[in-house]
Amino acid sequence: NFMKDDNVSQECKNLISSLPSEKDFMGKSLFSYQGSWYYPNTVQAILNFQKHFRPRDTDIILASFPKSGTTWLKALAFAVVHRNKYAAYTLDSHPLLSNNPHNLVRFLEIDLYDKNQLPDLEELPLPRLFATHMPFQTLNETLRDSPCKVVYVCRNIKDVLVSRWHFRSKVVSKELYSNNSLEDMFDEFIKGAYLFGPFQDQVLSYWKASLVNVNPVLFMTYEEMIEKPEAQVMRLADFLGYSFTEEEKQSGMVEKILELCSLSNLSNLVANKTGTSTCGIHHHAFFRKGGVGGWKDYLTHDMAKKLDEIVENKLQGSGLKF
Ligand code: A3P
Repeated sequence: NFMKDDNVSQECKNLISSLPSEKDFMGKSLFSYQGSWYYPNTVQAILNFQKHFRPRDTDIILASFPKSGTTWLKALAFAVVHRNKYAAYTLDSHPLLSNNPHNLVRFLEIDLYDKNQLPDLEELPLPRLFATHMPFQTLNETLRDSPCKVVYVCRNIKDVLVSRWHFRSKVVSKELYSNNSLEDMFDEFIKGAYLFGPFQDQVLSYWKASLVNVNPVLFMTYEEMIEKPEAQVMRLADFLGYSFTEEEKQSGMVEKILELCSLSNLSNLVANKTGTSTCGIHHHAFFRKGGVGGWKDYLTHDMAKKLDEIVENKLQGSGLKF
């Protein structure tokens, strides 16, 4: 779905013809727009978004590089901000039990603005929650002057690469994403030209934005969420303006939300074992093993070192280390 190149207007074709271009390892053309690489249909969707999206003051945008914990963050943010709508918080009636997080918090550029028709976002319940894989500079151009909130989740590049490879083999093709392709994807990560890449540039764009106080950006990491889930969910809730009250904390609300959104709970739901999300991907493909450091079973020492190096070089002097 994210590689299809129909739905591209003449205006977008003209723009694309002026953009730097590279081929991915399967020979498909990628184009560099505002510092990130895309297939043509995503450039079109981003243009649609930039032209038509009107932020509301209460909007919340969840941003990430693919495979960094987007699904988890979507579930947590949705559960946090809507917790009072499910009054007694009877878990069996919660939307996350009957729907995939990607349908409850939809992507801007690979879902809502990637269709023939512009989305109607006026009827969505407030606060509106959206998600994106665009880098901050591309998002921000459209959010400018709006106080809406952005949460970024990032994850170690090595676990991201391995997760991406498993995901692609599920959703694109087992044949194309066979054993050799892990090395092909590694080469792309080193070169920088791949969908939504370079990873390190995107991380830095949100890190820098989180240090200044224009559009507030909360910078989270998957590793910290795994290590201290309660503290990180409370931090998320505070940032979003939905702090847990003492009473809620004592009644176990934080833990209930974490349990609801856990990988084991979500991945075992019928709603996530079957069906396809509004962005065209089988629900089950978003859930695998999770955790930290799983890359050790797939990447050589040398590959790991090179990946760490490109990230370290980019982040040097930024104050961010992971
Ligand atoms: P692995 O492939 O390492 O298992 P994204 O949501 O950005 O697409 O990232 C997918 C990764 O997050 C996958 O990692 C997946 O298993 C993991 N994941 C999905 N849902 C999760 C959850 N509720 N809690 C923790 N990790 C989750």
